[in-house]
Amino acid sequence: MPETDTQPKRLRVLLVDDSSERRTSVERSLAEVGCEVVGFASSRDNLVQCVGAANPDVVIMDIESPSRDTLDSLRSMQSSAPRPIVMFTQDDNGETITRATRAGVSAYVVDGISQKRVRPILDAAIERFVQYRELSPDNWAACVREQLNAGDTSAEWRELYDSTQIQYRAARIIGGRLDAVIIIGPGFELPPRDWLAALFRKQRLDDSERARLLRATPPSGQEDAGAIVCACFSVGVGTLRRAICEQGLDSPEAIGRALHAGTNCGSCVAELRRLIADAAAQPVA
Ligand code: FES
Repeated sequence: MPETDTQPKRLRVLLVDDSSERRTSVERSLAEVGCEVVGFASSRDNLVQCVGAANPDVVIMDIESPSRDTLDSLRSMQSSAPRPIVMFTQDDNGETITRATRAGVSAYVVDGISQKRVRPILDAAIERFVQYRELSPDNWAACVREQLNAGDTSAEWRELYDSTQIQYRAARIIGGRLDAVIIIGPGFELPPRDWLAALFRKQRLDDSERARLLRATPPSGQEDAGAIVCACFSVGVGTLRRAICEQGLDSPEAIGRALHAGTNCGSCVAELRRLIADAAAQPVA
């Protein structure tokens, strides 16, 4: 039957699912909501190649919990063959959700979903993806102002477009206190979160803090622990990167001796190895 205006567009789907037994039933369910599965992959496959081969409208991932390797793979895919990604998962950890969103996941759905809600979620994720890609430095400011009601005269609104870093930064200050910070740009680098958290806790920002906020530059000597890598010992990625570089730590055992990271449950050891490999790959100044 030909498609009409009242029928939703048929969506081409790349289905990423590590369970080959589950794929058939998921494919059948997707067919009932107007989706054609044009390719299958596992989370360990090269997703850039899979997207290139299947040319899907959307990537659906049905996965227990996204590993760091999977998120790295999604990040690569979004920089060379970007597509909307909808992830159905069991993992409701806030840190994982943040990482998945930063890796380019448009919709993150925890703990299953009724069939009738699948299609609206896919359509909303695609719309969000399209809108995000249409955003440019020219309209970042307008978009943010609209979202945060910058016309509210009780709030002080500061903003800056940094053409060197291709980054738009804005801060909303209410009664002298930092209320919101928005940073938009193609990269993933953010100011140190410890510094930002300290600014949010202050009763009143002084002039130099306001200026630094817009420059995204903390005072020198203030080091950021970064996102936690080793949960057992609360060791962040910033601390690890500095220690690897400054102390020449070249193995998880050496990191364990210096910072204890990796010496309890061991679940962070793969990430420690990756950080060591990243540091080794950096050009020597
Ligand atoms: S998370 Fe690092 S040792 Fe447990």
